[in-house]
Formats: sequence, structure tokens, C-alpha cells
Amino acid sequence: MPTAARRDIAPAHGKLGVLLVGLGAVSTTFIAGVENVRRGRALPIGSLTQMGTVRLGKRTEKRAPKIKDFLPLADLADLVFGAWDPFPDDAYTAATKAGVLEREHVEPIAEFLKGIRPMPAAFDQHYVKRLHGTNVKRGNTKRELAEQLRADIRDFKKSSGVDRLVMVWCASTEVFIAPGPAHQTLATFEQAMEQNDPAIAPSMLYAYAALMESVPFANGAPNLTVDVPALARLAEERKLPIGGKDFKTGQTMMKTVLAPAFKARMLGLAGWYSTNILGNRDGEVLDDPESFKTKEESKLGVLEYILQPEMYPELYGKVFHKVRINYYPPRGDNKEGWDNIDIFGWLGYPMQIKVDFLCRDSILAAPIVLDLALFFDLAQRAGLCGVQEWLSFYFKSPQTAPGLYPEHDLFIQQTKLKNTLRWLMGEQQITHLGVEYYEYGEK
Ligand SMILES: NC(=O)c1ccc[n+]([C@@H]2O[C@H](COP(=O)([O-])OP(=O)(O)OC[C@H]3O[C@@H](n4cnc5c(N)ncnc54)[C@H](O)[C@@H]3O)[C@@H](O)[C@H]2O)c1
Repeated sequence: MPTAARRDIAPAHGKLGVLLVGLGAVSTTFIAGVENVRRGRALPIGSLTQMGTVRLGKRTEKRAPKIKDFLPLADLADLVFGAWDPFPDDAYTAATKAGVLEREHVEPIAEFLKGIRPMPAAFDQHYVKRLHGTNVKRGNTKRELAEQLRADIRDFKKSSGVDRLVMVWCASTEVFIAPGPAHQTLATFEQAMEQNDPAIAPSMLYAYAALMESVPFANGAPNLTVDVPALARLAEERKLPIGGKDFKTGQTMMKTVLAPAFKARMLGLAGWYSTNILGNRDGEVLDDPESFKTKEESKLGVLEYILQPEMYPELYGKVFHKVRINYYPPRGDNKEGWDNIDIFGWLGYPMQIKVDFLCRDSILAAPIVLDLALFFDLAQRAGLCGVQEWLSFYFKSPQTAPGLYPEHDLFIQQTKLKNTLRWLMGEQQITHLGVEYYEYGEK
């Protein structure tokens, strides 16, 4: 039984347009995956919105609906895709080049994929050194490029007949940019666009265009984008959900599962060495030290926040943490991530854990894109605006309200997400206290 007021959520009428920045490995794996699922050819494995359930009420009530049945999410049948990319390849060619999916998941839907052609990108090689794209917009100022993106959004909405839109950044990782004066207010941001200030990266132009066109924006890469005061405030003013950043998929997902386990048992950590080999275009882009720096910052923060060395100096005061990514073409999208973890236990005795995760990067990322698209659309219809911290579950560097530290523990993130779903629908929060089942508890 619902116990609190259900939030007012506008129904998911009509089509939902999913605008993807970047039509590379992740985007094409996502699009092709959704189409295979729609045709009953595969299952949406890895997607919480499609496969997950949420327990409601007491354990004795035995109520655990599927999330997609519990909330008014957009139906997969109603998704329509659009994309930008500096390479002119359609989604079929891009998926084939990315080489993530086998022919059985691409060929039967070839015509559908060929119909998705990327719009010219707002692209500047200064921010992604290893790419040489030709399908790019021209303009004298960054402001002009942003206006062209806004026009693209309006045109897409009209030509596709969608009712609502969300935008997800699935494009390459840009070079590291520190937040600066240009990012502080909308006025400084707009002025910086007009002056072609290098502090304004292409990703920020997409985020700005999305917000100006009333489209929620999620950032799947680690670059500084919507996580600047100017755009965060714009989102609040325009009542739009935003969030990021950097999809939490392979090695970092494992890190945010293992580190909380060590901390829960008060086991010490001396060092954590993480290295990866991958050979896709993402790996090539990250081979550039400036793009790698952006990724490194995103990957390194996790342990510090989970382990809280200031509270447990004997256990976590001297952790040596190293992260490496090595571009190694023969592996393509099939990344191998190794972790060597040096822990210590009772009386300080050392132990080691080795993790060898032979993962598929885009296979792990695609369901995250789907869930984010559906949840950001839900958030907008439910009137949630600004940073969507409840979706931290999906990100390596979760964006938070100013002054809050991010929560990285995957299971706390999951609890937060599910409690937010319960709260949206006026259901009781689950505390896991459970004293009422025992003699000493309340009856
Ligand atoms: N796959 C994962 O597990 C994972 C996890 C976390 C983050 N990411 C991030 O997701 C992003 C996409 O990964 P991918 O494997 O699909 O990479 P990819 O290189 O296959 O695709 C990225 C695409 O973005 C395009 N692009 C670059 N700059 C652009 C711009 N300004 N506008 C439009 N398009 C642009 C590129 O041309 C490319 O086609 C990367 O930033 C990656 O770091 C991926």
C-alpha cells in the first residue's frame, strides 16, 4: 500500500527521442541492442529499468514489481534515435567498424541502422587530439556552433515527430579542463562562447544547447561539461535534470564493490594497482596524455571517497593508488583490466587479491545509456531538476550538489536509487531494520 503522497508524474505519452553525442562503439551497441530487444531477438541484460525489480513494503507482503511496471517509464517501442559525429558513417557502418556486435545482431537490422546518420558535429581537434573528423560544423564563434546545435535539436524534434527528448554524451573523452571564471555564470559562459575561449569545450556547447532547448543532459564521459556552475544553474532555472559523469562500467564498478567490502570488515589497504589494455577508438583517444588525464582524475577519486583515510588513518592513510590505460589494438573493444590489491588484516599481516576482468566495454555501457535515457526522461516528467544524484549508480564521478561529497559505494547508490523510485511513487522507504519480525520489536 502506498503510504505517502505520490509525486505528480506526467504520463509518457508519445515518442521519446534519444539524442546521442557521438555515434561510436557505445552508441551503436546501445541502439542496435534496443532494436534487437524490440524485435524479440535478445534480452536487455544489464539494464536495471528492464530487468530489475523493486521490493515494496515488508518482506511478508511479497510485493516486488519490475521497475518498468512500477513506474511510468517510456516504452522501448517509443524510442527514436538521433546522433552527431565528426565521422559521417551511418550507425550500420559505425557498428561494423566498432566490431563490438556479431553479425547476427547487426545484419538483420541493417536497414534500420543505415537510417541513422549522424548530424555534423561541433568538433574541435584541440579537445580530442587523435581524431580527424570531416562531418563537422563551421562557425565563426562557439556561440554560433551552439546555435546550430539548437537548430539541430528543433529540426530533429519536428522531423522525427517525438514528443520529448533526452541527450546523452557518448562521445570521446576530451582533454582535461579545470573549472575557471568562464564557467561561473551564464553571462560569463555566453561571453566566453562568443570570444572562442578555450575553456569552452565542444561538450559544453551540446550541454548548453540541450538545456536551452529544454532537453535533459547526461554526461557519459569524464570531461568537464555540465558540471560547472553556469550550466548547473541553467538546468535548475529551466527545471531540467542533469547528471554525470563517466559511465561506471568495468574496473571502476569492481572497485566500488570491493573497496566498500574491505572497509566494511575494517581491512587495511596498502596499494591498488589497476591497469588496462584496450584497442578500440576510445583506447586510441585515451592514449593521448591530455585525454587520459581527464579519465585518470575520474578513476582515481573513487578510493579516496570510499575509504575516508582521514577517519581511518591506520587502515587507509598510506594507500598507493595507480591507474593505467594502454592502447593495444588487437583487443578491440574487449578490454582486459587487471587489479593487484595489497590489503592487510589482523595484526597487520599482508594479503593480496588479483582481479582479471576480461570485459566488453560497450556491452557494459549500452544498458547504462538506456537506463539513463529512461530515468532522465522520467525525472523531467516528475519535475526533478538540477543534479540527479540518485543516478550516481551509473557514474564513476557522480555529480552532486555543491558542498556534498559523492557517494561511490555501488550498493549505497543502488539503495538510494531504489528509495528514490519508492519516494516518487509514494511507497515507504526501506530501512532494513526489520525489528518488527522479532519479539523485542514493535508489533
Ligand atoms: N564503454 C565503456 O565502458 C565506457 C565507460 C565509461 C565511459 N566511456 C566513455 O564513453 C565515450 C564513448 O566511448 P566509445 O567506446 O563509444 O568511444 P568511440 O571512440 O567508439 O565513440 C566516440 C565517438 O564520439 C565521436 N566524437 C568525438 N568528439 C565528438 C564531438 N565533439 N561531437 C560528436 N561526436 C564526437 C567520435 O568520432 C566517436 O565516433 C568515451 O568518452 C568513453 O571514455 C565508455
